[in-house]
Amino acid sequence: MQEQIHKLPKVELHSHLEGTIKPALAQEIAQRNDVSLDSNLFHSNGGYAWSDFPSFLTAYDNVSSCLRLGKDYGDITYEYLKDCAKENVVYAETFISPDHAAECGISYDEMISGIASGIEDAERDFGIVGRIIVTCVRHLGPEQGLNVVQTMVDNPHPYVVGFGMGGDENAYTLEEFADIYNIAKKAGYECTVHAGEICGPESVWDAINYLPISRIGHGVNSIKDNELMNELVQRNIHLEICPGSNLSLSIFPDWDSHPLPSIMNKAVSISLNSDDPPFFNTTVGQEYYDSAKHFNLDIDELKRISVMAMKASFANSKIKSRLIEEIQKFQS
Ligand code: ADE
Ligand code: ZN
Repeated sequence: MQEQIHKLPKVELHSHLEGTIKPALAQEIAQRNDVSLDSNLFHSNGGYAWSDFPSFLTAYDNVSSCLRLGKDYGDITYEYLKDCAKENVVYAETFISPDHAAECGISYDEMISGIASGIEDAERDFGIVGRIIVTCVRHLGPEQGLNVVQTMVDNPHPYVVGFGMGGDENAYTLEEFADIYNIAKKAGYECTVHAGEICGPESVWDAINYLPISRIGHGVNSIKDNELMNELVQRNIHLEICPGSNLSLSIFPDWDSHPLPSIMNKAVSISLNSDDPPFFNTTVGQEYYDSAKHFNLDIDELKRISVMAMKASFANSKIKSRLIEEIQKFQS
């Protein structure tokens, strides 16, 4: 079964590019840019040090602070996609944060062209298709979000396929971001938003009632509201589920308490994702292995998850149908 899972074509829809930087790469990039990273960032075990959601967000900001150039973005994109390709990920969408780039003095154009080079190099070397979802940071507020969406819409790039938002779910209300999301949607970008991770089902209701979204980042707390689960099915809203991240951040105490099997039983469309791999000691491949083991999923169910993910991706129809066919052709 391990071998079969390894070979299965996989799809990642939910990772944060700045959160994919491994400690060694962060140190290498910091060194060449003459940046000193916060000494509290690293744990004695070699990983990143954080203890709860707020300190995770701070550690994430600290890691991002090593970046200075478009090339740095190119390198982190290439390394992330290379790791994905090793696990037979055929398509990966990654969230990028222009606010984090701006903090480092990197312009939107420089960030995007660096990432685009990383995507092209990775596709040439490994065959993996990478795409970009531009995100704003919720706790920086709607005014900053408006800057981000306007910059995205004014500077279109073929690899930028969607708009989203991460950050602290407790900050502001989703209603306050409605105009921002409508700008993205009107300009032709598909949308997703983090909700139902830290907060309860009401945050997912707000997401589907106020924002033009077709996917929710996490959304796992939707399970507490049966009516909401039915609504997600009816509206064909996809949940980007990140079990390892949820356990690391203590959203659920253990695998037995994680609602993924119940969510699948309700016929909600889902994918398996890494979120911020080195922070949560995971990868998308690891999420497939762990889900098979703890949720008793067989290879056909994992294959169905890859298909659901590809269908919910923001790729154009040509890439979508080619990769869905590739996944469906996989013989276990
Ligand atoms: N930014 C990076 N990872 C995140 C997460 N899991 N939730 C919210 N914002 C994030
Ligand atoms: Zn996330």
